[in-house]
Amino acid sequence: MNIHTYEKLWLAAAMVLIVGFIATITYGAVGPGVSMIDDDGGSIDPDAISDHERFGDTGVTHVGGNEYEVDVVAQAWSYSPGEIEVPAGSEVTFYVTSRDVTHSFSVVGTNINTMVIPGEVSKMTVEFDEPGEYGILCNEYCGEGHHNMEGKLTVVPEDEFDMTELDVEAPDEAEAGNETTINATVSDGMQTDLETTATLVIGDQRYDEDVAIEGADSETVEFAVDTEELGAGDHDWAVIVDDEEESGTLTVTEGDGGSDGGDGDA
Ligand code: CUA
Repeated sequence: MNIHTYEKLWLAAAMVLIVGFIATITYGAVGPGVSMIDDDGGSIDPDAISDHERFGDTGVTHVGGNEYEVDVVAQAWSYSPGEIEVPAGSEVTFYVTSRDVTHSFSVVGTNINTMVIPGEVSKMTVEFDEPGEYGILCNEYCGEGHHNMEGKLTVVPEDEFDMTELDVEAPDEAEAGNETTINATVSDGMQTDLETTATLVIGDQRYDEDVAIEGADSETVEFAVDTEELGAGDHDWAVIVDDEEESGTLTVTEGDGGSDGGDGDA
């Protein structure tokens, strides 16, 4: 059978187009890492979110290595947490659910874009290689505040990321000469060990305490303040651990044996 040259050309062109179509569809489905949200994330009672082991305490959790989990609750018209920070070079799995109506969780400029349905948990894993800032938007109409429903995701350089938190308990007032302590609880959210120093500065005094935390845990250090030496008056203090700082004021009142405490020589 003799096929005309033009017909051969048309046949070849049609073949190239068909292969091209299949290739683009395959790339679109697999290449950019787009995946459908399945029931992998499980379901949840939307009325019991506050008691849920995952969603009762939302935020970033370090799983180990470069892996993190971020638990987010969407509600009219905000996300909890509203701001998320993860390090560059991390693999982040998001778990998102809704407290009330259907929302979405869309990270602008990435392929993270999922519906968030009450009773369902949307789960997706994404790798963040470079530092950057992304807006989070809801693009399912969810009521009058829909256009204000937003959040922020920041990918910080790896060496600037830490999950250290500081919580200080200090009295407002102390009597000179009495033993007074300021307690600093350092929490480390990372699974890696943390060794650092907690410093208390009050008046001219400075106290350093070593902090060593294994895994994701916390440690409380106690600073015994020399109130006698501080003397009566208001004294500003600050507790510093790495980039965390908490400050306040301690008022020292005259003790019983105060030197100028009106011993009756007036
Ligand atoms: Cu939430 Cu729109």
